[in-house]
Amino acid sequence: MDTPVIYADLNLSRTSRLENSSRSFPPQDICQGPSCHQLALKLGCAVILLLVLSVIGLSVSVVVLIQKSSIEKCIVDIQENRTETTERSPLVECPPDWHSLHNKCLGVFHSTSKSWNDSRSDCSEKESSLLLIQDQEELVSLWGLIQGLQKNDIHLFWIGLHYTLPEENWKWINGSVFNSDILKITGTPEENKCVVISKQKMVSETCDGENKWICQKELKPVK
Ligand SMILES: *[C@@H]1O[C@H](CO)[C@@H](O)[C@H](O)[C@H]1NC(C)=O
Ligand SMILES: *[C@@H]1O[C@H](CO)[C@@H](O)[C@H](O)[C@H]1NC(C)=O
Ligand SMILES: *[C@@H]1O[C@H](CO)[C@@H](O)[C@H](O)[C@H]1NC(C)=O
Repeated sequence: MDTPVIYADLNLSRTSRLENSSRSFPPQDICQGPSCHQLALKLGCAVILLLVLSVIGLSVSVVVLIQKSSIEKCIVDIQENRTETTERSPLVECPPDWHSLHNKCLGVFHSTSKSWNDSRSDCSEKESSLLLIQDQEELVSLWGLIQGLQKNDIHLFWIGLHYTLPEENWKWINGSVFNSDILKITGTPEENKCVVISKQKMVSETCDGENKWICQKELKPVK
């Protein structure tokens, strides 16, 4: 029965020795003197500064993000409004003084003459575009309409077809390339040429020249 007591003594002495050794390096000994406290203060300050900076950085990026998204929204709005104005829903009936032909309303302007560019702008102002022609049949019936309007006083009329660079081909103002299998253009294809219609024909003319012009608006097809 004596042996366990001895063990207990040994254990106690070991723990007390451990306590002594740990007590010989107390934590407050790591920082001694005013220079060490200054260092701790500086470290603290740096941490606070870093926190403040990151808060500022975060709020700045949030503000930038909000502004960016609102700008993007604005751009989308403008784009939507633009497509709205260029792709207006088709008319149910033609405006006064416009003529209905197939699924279009045609504005035939023959009291003044303008360059191709100015004619194109005039159609835009009237919320329409220069005339686009689908095929020979449309051209023939178009000419019938013009003759009916003007009797013997025949003019040349600008339509929405011009020679474009650098593609070097005839192009409709809706962006489609002219198909010479369907319609023919009399005259040379070259820079600064635009197309007029004259007596059931399409003729190449200098864009700067002044002619009458025809605008079109889409008419809603009757179901
Ligand atoms: C787009 O049009 C709508 C109504 O048609 C209008 O409320 C909005 O302010 C317009 N947006 C822009 C950017 O013009
Ligand atoms: C027509 O207008 C376009 C720009 O809208 C311009 O680049 C071109 O030079 C003009 N052409 C003529 C013949 O005025
Ligand atoms: C553009 O107009 C031409 C002539 O009417 C037509 O053949 C072509 O299909 C049109 N293109 C588009 C994209 O509407």
